[in-house]
Formats: sequence, C-alpha cells, structure tokens
Amino acid sequence: MEIIVLPDTDQVARTAADIIEERVRRGPAVVGLATGSTPLGTYRELIRRHREEGLSFTDAHAFLLDEYVGLPASHPESYRSVIRREIADHVDFASDAVHGLDGEAADPAAEAARYDASIAAAGGIDVQILGIGTDGHIGFNEPMSSLASRTRIKTLTEQTRRDNARFFARPDDVPEHVLTQGLGTILEARHVLLLGLGEAKAGAVAAAVEGPVAALCPASALQLHQHVTVLIDAAAASELEHTEYYQYTYGKKPAWQGFRAARRR
Ligand code: PGA
Repeated sequence: MEIIVLPDTDQVARTAADIIEERVRRGPAVVGLATGSTPLGTYRELIRRHREEGLSFTDAHAFLLDEYVGLPASHPESYRSVIRREIADHVDFASDAVHGLDGEAADPAAEAARYDASIAAAGGIDVQILGIGTDGHIGFNEPMSSLASRTRIKTLTEQTRRDNARFFARPDDVPEHVLTQGLGTILEARHVLLLGLGEAKAGAVAAAVEGPVAALCPASALQLHQHVTVLIDAAAASELEHTEYYQYTYGKKPAWQGFRAARRR
C-alpha cells in the first residue's frame, strides 16, 4: 500500500483526480465510481478539468460500486441517480457507458452475477475509487464479509444505516439491503484508490492500513492487493501510528514513478 497523508480534503481530491485523469487520458479506461460524501471533491475536480482542461470521458466506461435494494433508478438516492447527479451528467461519458446495479431486480443473485460478468466483459476495472465506512466497509461489504466475496446482496449494519440517514427524509427510509461488488471483485481492479476524510474515519483507516487482514475490517483486505493508493487527510490519519514513515516514503517517491504500477497496460 502507498499511504499518502495530505494536509486537507482539497489536496486529497486533486491527487485522486490526477490519478484518474492520467489513466483516462492514456486510452480507453474503465473507472469504478463510489458514492458517499468522500469522493465528491474528486468528482468536482474531474468535472472542472472536463470543462476547463479538455479531459474527456468519451472512451471511458464507469461501473458503480453498489446500490440499494428496493430503490428504483429514478429515486434521488439510488446510487444510479447520485452518480448521474454528482458526475456523469456533467462530463461526456457515452450514454450507455455508465453501468449500475438494478436494485429492483426480481432475482438479486442473477443481477449480481450479470454485473460481475459485465465488469469482466469490459476488461475489468482500471481504477477503482473507494470511500471507507466508519465500520471499515468498502462498497457495502460490512464486517465479516468474505474476503473472496463476489457481487451479492448484503444486509446493512445499523451503524451504516445511521451514517446514511442524512441522505433520506427519515432514518427508517434507509434501505436495509444492498447489492455490492464483493471484496474479491474489488480486489480484481488494477489500481485501487482508498480515500478517507475526517476524524470519523480515523479508526477505520487505522484498522484497514495498520491492523491485521481480517473480515472484521473489510477494508483491510486491500492489504492483499498489489496496487493500492491510500489518500487521506490529516484528520483521517490521526489514529495511524506510522504517519512519519508514510510521509518519509512519500517525500522520497522517485519523480519518474508517478502512481502507475510497473507492467500495467
Ligand atoms: P462517506 O461514506 O463517503 O459518505 O463517508 C463512505 C462509505 O460508507 O463507504
């Protein structure tokens, strides 16, 4: 893992946007998009670069990470709506290039299998953006998710439903079930960007990065991935024990290296 502690949320957003821009400009790209508050600054920066600097997504595909079960695509809090509102409607993806899960599918297991197959058919995800839940979830892989899991239905924890209640009129309106890419699915992305902002995420970030690989903290599965960039602000880093070391190594990062792993297409 490359762990980069940045002074503030703007710098996290700009660095994440740099990584995505580099991949999108390099040729047809498959980008994994997350919802939640954390990536919003990154999306705003990508939209700005699209408008002002010619960054184009016409050759790119996007796959959403997860979706609420039971919400129609037209519901303002369905993740298909959120992604349209926060990024897709403001850049130039082709009309059929933004892929989401159908939370109303009559057969959620079949929908999940279809989704994994469509990611594979697109050639896999090049860059996957992730936030992290206060309970350590990525996507909606709640604690005890199999580290090898595929896209499937999950039950949200009470904590996650409370965390997400701010997006709904009433706390009880937060759906109880979701479809989410599995941890095994996420681990197949070629480059994973884990973003963490604010003190509320400090415990989860510390468990994910410095704790043991354990289903209790699903984000810790990323320790098994060969190309993860963790971008966090100072508040989200506040429970890490080895911040000085991360800052030392980032300071020594060879200028030629960038964020591309060796031997990537
Ligand atoms: P947040 O959620 O970005 O809204 O904090 C992150 C998550 O639950 O994965």
